[in-house]
Amino acid sequence: MPPIVEIRNVANFAGQEVTIQGWLYNLRESGRLLFPLVRDGTGIIQGVVVRSAVPPEVFARIRELTQESSLRVTGKVRADQRAPGGFELDVSHVEVLQLVPLDRPYPITPKEHGIEFLMDHRHLWLRSQRQRAILGVRHEIVKACRDYLDERGFTLVDTPIFTPAACEGTTTLFEVNYFEDKAYLTQSGQLYNEAAVMAVGKTYCFGPAFRAEKSKTRRHLTEFWIVEPEVAFAHLDDTMELAEALIAFVVGRVLEKRRPELETLERAIGPLEKCTPPFPRLSYDDAVKILQAKGSEIRWGGDFGGTDETILSENFDRPVLVHRYPSQVKAFYMTPDPVRPELALCVDVLAPEGYGEIVGGGERLADYDLLMKRIEENQLPRPAFEWYLDLRRYGSVPHSGFGMGIERVVAWICGLEHVRETIPFPRMLYRLTP
Ligand code: 4AD
Ligand code: MG
Repeated sequence: MPPIVEIRNVANFAGQEVTIQGWLYNLRESGRLLFPLVRDGTGIIQGVVVRSAVPPEVFARIRELTQESSLRVTGKVRADQRAPGGFELDVSHVEVLQLVPLDRPYPITPKEHGIEFLMDHRHLWLRSQRQRAILGVRHEIVKACRDYLDERGFTLVDTPIFTPAACEGTTTLFEVNYFEDKAYLTQSGQLYNEAAVMAVGKTYCFGPAFRAEKSKTRRHLTEFWIVEPEVAFAHLDDTMELAEALIAFVVGRVLEKRRPELETLERAIGPLEKCTPPFPRLSYDDAVKILQAKGSEIRWGGDFGGTDETILSENFDRPVLVHRYPSQVKAFYMTPDPVRPELALCVDVLAPEGYGEIVGGGERLADYDLLMKRIEENQLPRPAFEWYLDLRRYGSVPHSGFGMGIERVVAWICGLEHVRETIPFPRMLYRLTP
């Protein structure tokens, strides 16, 4: 029996007979020859079937193969410089596991389909070369985040998904029945990170977050993944440096390990290669001036819209760290700037090429009285925040951190128009299936 080999490894089997398990991607016929294109999740290889070289029933079986039929195909690996992966398979045998019936063919054909059709068939669309490339880059990004933090002494502490209170404003909360009570799906693990960091010094959580985003933008999902590091005794500058280093590391890792995927996606490499520290720093004040000079309606004190972020990021060839926004546009837990108390010690990182905010974070309020005041001003339910206030009653210290949205980073690094392709099964205002 020939060995079962993954397509990514065929180079090690040149001249040998192997079996590949996969799906039919495409089939071309030319006279006495058939060219089945087979994919197996690790790559794609073209088979060559010569009518005179195989038993008639084998030729007939391959000839009737339909797109996405599952199969085991056996043949000899042959190096061919013209072949996409550098190798072809001289087919001698095929075993069909399931033949997709002709009267109910695979719905996604090589022709162009509308985006809604593709999203409705997301469970199948994932099999395309492009989607597989995105899945690979996403995996690399997630792993790079974990590796970076793990190698630097951060302890992963998982934070809950059912929560009793809001972290990022009450307008985007998903409420769920919790027995006789109400609970909310977490918007961010940050508040729990703040408890964990007092136990382990440096922590991160990495999980899904939920926001009832009513807007239809290319940057918002209702369910997204976020990595959130938090460091005790760290100030705004420390957290800015950490965000900068993490982003540079992640981009570097993808460039190192996922070139083929970036090529499949036709992603220009040049702009990614520029993403080395130091990243420019820009105060909110200066950002407003830049925007106004470019014709934006923004007034000092307002938050940036998606278009403002795009304009700002287009000014720089690498991510830009925008710091010290007015407290009024930021969350209740932000520390005021001691020099200008109307500003928060916070930072947003905007990705280049118009991709907008990928990171939000800053220095947390460590002072009990100030925090109490902010909770009241924001009309947050005091009982749900008692435990959070405890963190300021028992050995409060300065601490800072941030959250980086995985889908925004995937969209940027892959060069995608919309976050809907960055996550296997996106959840958006008008999409809950498949
Ligand atoms: O800026 P945000 O709201 O910050 C926080 O949640 C902080 N509590 C994080 C922290 O300091 N630990 O969200 C952080 C990041 C954003 O920069 C963005 O990348 C992503 O989360 N994000 C979203 N991604 C996709 N869809 C949405 N609806 C998102 N909302 C935020
Ligand atoms: Mg933000």
